[in-house]
Amino acid sequence: MTDTNPDPTIVEVDLEAGEAEKSFLEGKTTAVLAYNGTVPGPLIEANVGDTLIVHFKNSLSEETTIHWHGIRLPNDMDGAPAVQRPIAAGDAFTYQFKLKDAGFFWFHPHVMEEEQIRKGLFGVIRVRGQDEPQADDEKIVVLGDALLKEDGSFDDEVDDDMIMLGREGNVLLVNGRTMPTLELEPGALTRLRIVNVANGRFFNLALPGHAFRVIGTDGGLIPKPYDAERLLVAPGERYDVLLIGQGEPGAEIVLTNEAYARGHDTGEAAPMPLATVRIGEGPALSGRTLPDSGPAIERLPGGAADTTITFDERYIQGVLKFLVDGNTYPDVPPIEVERGSTHVFDLKNDAEMDHPFHLHGFFFQVLARDGVPVADDALANKDTLILPQLSTTTVVARFDEPGDWMYHCHILEHAERGMMGELVVS
Ligand code: C2O
Ligand code: CU
Repeated sequence: MTDTNPDPTIVEVDLEAGEAEKSFLEGKTTAVLAYNGTVPGPLIEANVGDTLIVHFKNSLSEETTIHWHGIRLPNDMDGAPAVQRPIAAGDAFTYQFKLKDAGFFWFHPHVMEEEQIRKGLFGVIRVRGQDEPQADDEKIVVLGDALLKEDGSFDDEVDDDMIMLGREGNVLLVNGRTMPTLELEPGALTRLRIVNVANGRFFNLALPGHAFRVIGTDGGLIPKPYDAERLLVAPGERYDVLLIGQGEPGAEIVLTNEAYARGHDTGEAAPMPLATVRIGEGPALSGRTLPDSGPAIERLPGGAADTTITFDERYIQGVLKFLVDGNTYPDVPPIEVERGSTHVFDLKNDAEMDHPFHLHGFFFQVLARDGVPVADDALANKDTLILPQLSTTTVVARFDEPGDWMYHCHILEHAERGMMGELVVS
């Protein structure tokens, strides 16, 4: 999108949330909510170290805020209701912060997010670093879904099954489109920047004949890339992958969402097509290789957990609730930590389903799963992480920015039904 500031170290943009129309199903229109009229919203591009200034105008008929998912920023720019009074319909607000980290981030509302995000309010931010891997091509892959009625309008009905798993759409979307065609040149080293913006759906990607070489995730590039035949991406998570295009010129293969059991569902559903991948007709490129190493990242110290956060779900007086330490937000007691301190948390998932845990403002690193240390090789900075059902994940984070930060399940129906808390750094 257009950067209105001539200073090369400042990216200054106008962003407006409003109502718009979009066609997800052929011949049918859907009344959506959109940033600058598009779903996904406009791509924001910057370099690490830049200052981002966003002049935001709320032209919705209801309040909103913007949360900059995964970006380490001052607390008053975080857009969470704990720290920002919602921006009323018709009002404006300027967000301004420095982009400390290279990576692939996204932005979305943080009030009424269950409805506002699923109706189209999301966009991505690509922040380039100094040592970006070389690739012949790079594509953005925004994974999402929509629950639509026959006439193309959003189906707003909700039942406990939808709440239990998070509302899953009946239409799968890649970059806001059903079954788009992605071109893959034969032999070309192609980089995919992947984010899952769905309310509740986990994506488990597969591309026949290709493995995904994972080179980065939420907090940027990782030191030790690895291969994944299937790439599981929970709501809120990002993956940065490379692959080399394979196949006969003109051939078409299908990117699919493979079955994945995450608890209450059996995971037996047939693979669902997401996009057509068309192998280009150009002469095959040769000699491209996948990197075996990436930039070093600081490893945070390990140790025994000093805090346990327990996630669970339960019917309370007939209503399905999602709990943190037995309470629902805002009745969850805040966790208090000292500025500059490092803490090890046991994230205990007592529920019979996976919950993607998201922490605002800080990256964390996984130390152990059910007490078993993760391999040294698996070092990565995360802000969103699958907590598998009935298990404990040990993570470490350093809290170097003061303020009141939120953590929650990124299945938005769960967050709205209580699975959310605050972490106060002072
Ligand atoms: Cu992407 Cu608090 O969320
Ligand atoms: Cu959840």
